[in-house]
Amino acid sequence: MTLRRVNVIILVLLAVAFLIIVQRNLLNLSDFLHKEHQDAGMILPFESEPSPNLRPEYERKGEEIPILITAAEERLGAVVAAINSVYQNSKANIVFTIVTQNDTVDHLKTWLSDTRLKYIKHKIVVFNPEHLKGKIPKDSLNLEAAKPLTFARFYLPLYIPEAEKAIYLDDDIIVQGDIQELYETNIKQGHAAAFSDDCDSASSKGIVRGAGNQNNYIGFLDFKKESIKKLGMRANTCTFNPGVIVANLTEWKNQNITQQLEHWMELNTKEDLYSKTLAESITSPPLLIVFYKHHSTIDPMWHVRHLGTTGAGNRYSLPFVKAAKLLHWNGHYKPWGRTSSFSDVWDKWYIPDPTGKFHPVRRHTEDK
Ligand SMILES: *[C@@H]1O[C@H](CO)[C@@H](O)[C@H](O)[C@H]1NC(C)=O
Ligand SMILES: *[C@@H]1O[C@H](CO)[C@@H](O)[C@H](O)[C@H]1NC(C)=O
Ligand SMILES: *[C@@H]1O[C@H](CO)[C@@H](O)[C@H](O)[C@H]1NC(C)=O
Ligand SMILES: *[C@@H]1O[C@H](CO)[C@@H](O)[C@H](O)[C@H]1NC(C)=O
Repeated sequence: MTLRRVNVIILVLLAVAFLIIVQRNLLNLSDFLHKEHQDAGMILPFESEPSPNLRPEYERKGEEIPILITAAEERLGAVVAAINSVYQNSKANIVFTIVTQNDTVDHLKTWLSDTRLKYIKHKIVVFNPEHLKGKIPKDSLNLEAAKPLTFARFYLPLYIPEAEKAIYLDDDIIVQGDIQELYETNIKQGHAAAFSDDCDSASSKGIVRGAGNQNNYIGFLDFKKESIKKLGMRANTCTFNPGVIVANLTEWKNQNITQQLEHWMELNTKEDLYSKTLAESITSPPLLIVFYKHHSTIDPMWHVRHLGTTGAGNRYSLPFVKAAKLLHWNGHYKPWGRTSSFSDVWDKWYIPDPTGKFHPVRRHTEDK
């Protein structure tokens, strides 16, 4: 080997090391993820005494289905019901990654371990809100939509680094089908994710009349801004709902999706790019830009939504709701709240809080 060749090899190695360091610092991994709770949830069957009303179950084997979901303290009952519905309706080897904030960990752990949920494979990961500094506008900090955990879906490959394919679910959902079916959603070559389009027949049934442009891009983005104009997107393009995502994490990483999303979040804090007509639109716009005409689709019955936009007025027929594979109470009227459509469906999956802190609001229990 000549000296020259050795020099070239050393140079290449240095360049690779430099790139790795730059990338690690950009992602700020160590600060962002506190992984100390990683294995807290890997409780195997029969380790503890099953409660009397519990059917014994066997450990689930086979291909893992990774699911990311968030757990917000003020609505912890939501994630519990969602997880329970996913798990009970499938025999697949499901592994939940539950992203929460540090002061919720103990409450969540108790709820999972003192109930029949103790059999569910999961890990709890703490989200560090510091990470969003400079990425969300200060005046939106109090909006429901700006709660830090709603951004966890932007970081899918960081939370589930070992998987090629994963599912993200909002917490205000109930799954009635076998999640394996959703997991098998075909993601086209070159696409990083699949979403449910807002113009498909099932979802447009639920669009609130007169509520404006809730299903096209102009409802979410300010097309008068130069940065948006430059993208050349059509304002009347149908949007998608990012409450259910099936992702190819290999593509997600290859296309730097996380960094692209962060770029648009940062740009928005400077240039105010999001439409003002919708209050709850702070997580959707970056996704709508990055995945513009570049995503696969989810079967409409796997994301029946708008159950939370209409209060007590039921918009869907009962047979339709029964046939849905996944129900999503997006909107203001949550099934654990006072007025909501089909809260009885949600109640079937809810497991009472062993600590007694969380109570769904129900008419018949109000006066107790
Ligand atoms: C949670 O984290 C915040 C800042 O990230 C810190 O101020 C607070 O003390 C932490 N709370 C607990 C219970 O550790
Ligand atoms: C990561 O970000 C935090 C603030 O969010 C900062 O204090 C820390 O120095 C950063 N770490 C690295 C390695 O850049
Ligand atoms: C994910 O994307 C990679 C890279 O394009 C591809 O090789 C792989 O087959 C995809 N996997 C799935 C499950 O779609
Ligand atoms: C993703 O980022 C890496 C390093 O930051 C870069 O080398 C690569 O070209 C980027 N890929 C895309 C598709 O933007």
